[in-house]
Amino acid sequence: MKLPKAGTIEIAPSILSADFARLADEIAVIESAGVKIVHLDVMDGHFVPNITVGPPVIAKLRKYSNLVFDSHLMISEPEKFAERFVEAGADHVTFHVEAANEPKKLIDKLHALGATAGICLNPETPVDMIEECAQLCEMILVMTVHPGFGAQKFMPEAAKKVIQVREIVGPDIRVEVDGGIDPQTTPTVVSYGADTLVAGNAIFSKPDRVSAINAIRKACKKIKN
Ligand code: DX5
Ligand code: ZN
Repeated sequence: MKLPKAGTIEIAPSILSADFARLADEIAVIESAGVKIVHLDVMDGHFVPNITVGPPVIAKLRKYSNLVFDSHLMISEPEKFAERFVEAGADHVTFHVEAANEPKKLIDKLHALGATAGICLNPETPVDMIEECAQLCEMILVMTVHPGFGAQKFMPEAAKKVIQVREIVGPDIRVEVDGGIDPQTTPTVVSYGADTLVAGNAIFSKPDRVSAINAIRKACKKIKN
C-alpha cells in the first residue's frame, strides 16, 4: 500500500483511542468509511511516558487490512527498529527528529526498505531541525500535542508551524498533524496547509466511528482564511 500522493486531504484515524482488544474490527470499520490511512502509534515508555504496540501487532493487523499503515514511532533509537516495522507491514514510517542520530541516513534506509519516510516535530521543536531533510520525506508530521497520550488539548501555537513546514516542502509532500484534531480544530490546520489529519479520540471515543469521520470531512470544507 502506498501513501496517497499529495493533493488530497486524508483523515488518518489513530488507533490509540480504539478498543485494543478488537483492533482488526476497529480498523475494518474505518476502512468501510472510505479512509485510506490508519495511524499506528508506537510508544516505547522511554521516548514518551507510555507504551503501546510494536511490530508483532502490526504484522497480525496486516493480514486484516489493506489500508496504508502509517506508523508513528515515538521511540528512542528509531534506526534500530525501522527495518522490523517495515518487515511487519508498515508502509510509511515516521520517526521523531529529536530521537534520531542521523535523520538523513534513516530516511535513506526506509526508502531502501521500500517504505515511505516521515519525520516528526514535537510541539517545542523548531522547524529548522528538519529543514535539511524535509524534502527527502514523503510526509512531515507536526505534533499538535505532546506525544504520549490521546485525547489531549490541541496546541494552537504548535499548529502554526504547519505554515512554515508547508513553505519549506511545497505542495508535493504531505503535511500531517497529530493531536487534538476534531471538527473544531480541523478548519484551522487545513487553512495552515495540513493535508493529513490524524484523529484518535474524535473518532474512537464516538459510538459511531463512521459519522465521526464524516464530521471531520465536513469540517475540512469550513476553511478559515
Ligand atoms: C499522541 C499520538 C496521537 C494520538 C492523537 O501521542 O501520537 O496519534 O492518538 O490522539 P487524539 O486525536 O486523541 O489527540
Ligand atoms: Zn501519532
